[in-house]
Amino acid sequence: MTKKVQFKIDHMDPLGQGVSKISDKIVFIPSTLPGEEGEAEILKESKGVAFAKLIHLTKKSPDRIEPQCPHFETCNGCHYLHTDYNHELNFKKNSLQKDFQKFEECCEVETLKAPSRMAYRNRVQLHYNKKIGLIGFHGYKSNRIIDAKNCQIFDPSMKEVFDDTIQNFQSLLKGEPLKGHIEIYLNGNEVKRTFNKPYSEGGFSQVNKEMNQRALDLISNQLEDSSTEGLILDLFGGSGNLTRGQKNSTLVVDIYPKDKTEGHQSFLNLDLFNENSLDEIIETVDRRAVTHLVIDPPRSGFKQLEEYVEAFRPQKIVYMSCKPSTMSRDVIPLQENYKMQKLVLLDFFPSTFHYEGLIVLERKTN
Ligand SMILES: C[S@@+](CC[C@H](N)C(=O)[O-])C[C@H]1O[C@@H](n2cnc3c(N)ncnc32)[C@H](O)[C@@H]1O
Repeated sequence: MTKKVQFKIDHMDPLGQGVSKISDKIVFIPSTLPGEEGEAEILKESKGVAFAKLIHLTKKSPDRIEPQCPHFETCNGCHYLHTDYNHELNFKKNSLQKDFQKFEECCEVETLKAPSRMAYRNRVQLHYNKKIGLIGFHGYKSNRIIDAKNCQIFDPSMKEVFDDTIQNFQSLLKGEPLKGHIEIYLNGNEVKRTFNKPYSEGGFSQVNKEMNQRALDLISNQLEDSSTEGLILDLFGGSGNLTRGQKNSTLVVDIYPKDKTEGHQSFLNLDLFNENSLDEIIETVDRRAVTHLVIDPPRSGFKQLEEYVEAFRPQKIVYMSCKPSTMSRDVIPLQENYKMQKLVLLDFFPSTFHYEGLIVLERKTN
């Protein structure tokens, strides 16, 4: 039996969901906005919290707009298409500022907005089920496959292959398992397709080219003052993307690339979550030579950061993260010795609740 509730939205959570307090429960309702009222259906419930689906609104926010994608109500890919881009950015900005409220002398968030709210992704993953003949994205709080044929989030040069994949997936997937995924991505100007391979097989790459360039410009400005002898340590550096434009010697450490050297960048293949990794880096570089630390870990963040900072004592730390709450957890213990210089929201993933947070810390003089 379905359970329906009347709600009034108080505020937005970091996942782009409206939050309502109903009796003693906090209820999360996607596709709603602060001040809105209406009826929702509870989908999942546990002690103190519930997740619900909007049924209808009795009071609409003046900030509500008509979503520009026909799949918005069912697909869980985008979260903010029911309001305009400035409101979306404000919700994200508030969320980032809140993550850093425990940082004394915290900077005001600077926002670098995306040039385009749609048509930016250079990599998408479609899920399929051959038995029931469905292909699309996942729905809210479920692995149900939702039709996505009119999705506009990806680079238009991928459209032909995207449409072909949707129309012909059954024949394309001969010999593949009954359920799985297809990835479509841009490799230079070429559109490629893989079947049931790990996400971003062959190495991580940023999905929003324009925003990646903005991040590189920003990081370049921050590293400009690195003395000519200073060494940059680029942790979770992948293919060296974030430090490619630098002149200084740079050690890029990542689990993926093979050990090699390319221009100013040397690559070290290490599992940074392994307890011996710091010792291995210290064996590779003179720890006193490191002046700048660039770090861009996966969503889990890097709890060992404090240990690394103690070992290298860099003048500057540039930390970029797609999960600012773990970034804030990692940098808050550094405030005794580091002052915040910048806190930036880089909107790599417009229309969704995701974004990259970037923080610049400078060593205090003592
Ligand atoms: C958010 S990506 C950043 C990559 C790079 N900075 C860039 O801009 O392209 C995170 C990186 O962490 C790497 N990674 C994941 N787990 C790791 C581990 N245990 N040790 C080292 N690197 C890891 C991934 O290979 C990936 O390149």
